[in-house]
Amino acid sequence: MKTDKVTIHTLRDMKRRGEKITMLTAYDATFARLLDESHVDILLVGDSLGMVIQGHQTTLPVTLEEMIYHTRAVARGARRAQVLGDMPFMTYQSSVDRALDNAGRMMKEGGAGAIKLEGGAQHAELVFRLVAAGIPVMGHVGLTPQSFHQMGGFKVQGREQGGADRLVADAQALEQAGAYAIVLEGIPSEIAQRITATVAVPTIGIGAGPSCDGQVLVIYDLLGMDDSFKPKFVRRYENLGMRIRNAVDAYVTEVKDGSFPGEAETFFQDSKRPEQRPAATVSAIALAGGCAPEPAGGGDGPAPAAEELEGLYGGKS
Ligand code: KIV
Repeated sequence: MKTDKVTIHTLRDMKRRGEKITMLTAYDATFARLLDESHVDILLVGDSLGMVIQGHQTTLPVTLEEMIYHTRAVARGARRAQVLGDMPFMTYQSSVDRALDNAGRMMKEGGAGAIKLEGGAQHAELVFRLVAAGIPVMGHVGLTPQSFHQMGGFKVQGREQGGADRLVADAQALEQAGAYAIVLEGIPSEIAQRITATVAVPTIGIGAGPSCDGQVLVIYDLLGMDDSFKPKFVRRYENLGMRIRNAVDAYVTEVKDGSFPGEAETFFQDSKRPEQRPAATVSAIALAGGCAPEPAGGGDGPAPAAEELEGLYGGKS
């Protein structure tokens, strides 16, 4: 069967051809569908959802069950893109067997096509075992948010003496263990360039400069959902936070002043607008204070026309 689904092979070929890879986070089916329609190659169900969806200060509290739930939703909305499930804190660090079980659940129950885990050489054995079990693994080095407390905050990594060599060694260890791609987060551009030239697998950068084989951003940052959050590496392509507030302000105003819902958004008993009905019906409605009167003897009244039902739930029945 011929398919345009993005796989680990598609991504490796893209690196060979010099075609940039696009990756964005997605946490639900609606965003997954929209991003997929824009031909984003990889939808990362990132544990960043702990911060942007759940409101935590770090990604540490996110559970495997929560990741599976969101991954399943994204998998339903995605058609072409690869769905990449992020392994949350302490679901892969304690033992290889636990990690295998948990990564397996991300694929079997979540519908992920691959998983991502944070860390370099220290996880080489684990990556090897996951790949041997048929689970494609994306590595993640540099600023690894699950090590927030160890790093002393969300800080650029690799600037210290020997930092560049250690990052290159981590990326090489992941590649040798079988990782199909590596996220480079929060590192100087020169180091990212060196890693990208050294490994054959694609590098996906976030705060790692333009030389990476692809780029990833948190979708809420790209869309400008939080105007108090604008780190240096983010480019805002929209100001949705402000636009959402404006839209909701208008809704609140119109509900309060009675202009929503209007006639166009209202169902009537005989499925015709008042101006299309015989005068008697219109005046009955006027007498009832603008609302259609209950049918005599109660009951649900006549069934609404089919097109009204479709409109009720967004056109899908
Ligand atoms: O969780 C996440 O969204 C991530 C990206 C920032 C790479 O790991």
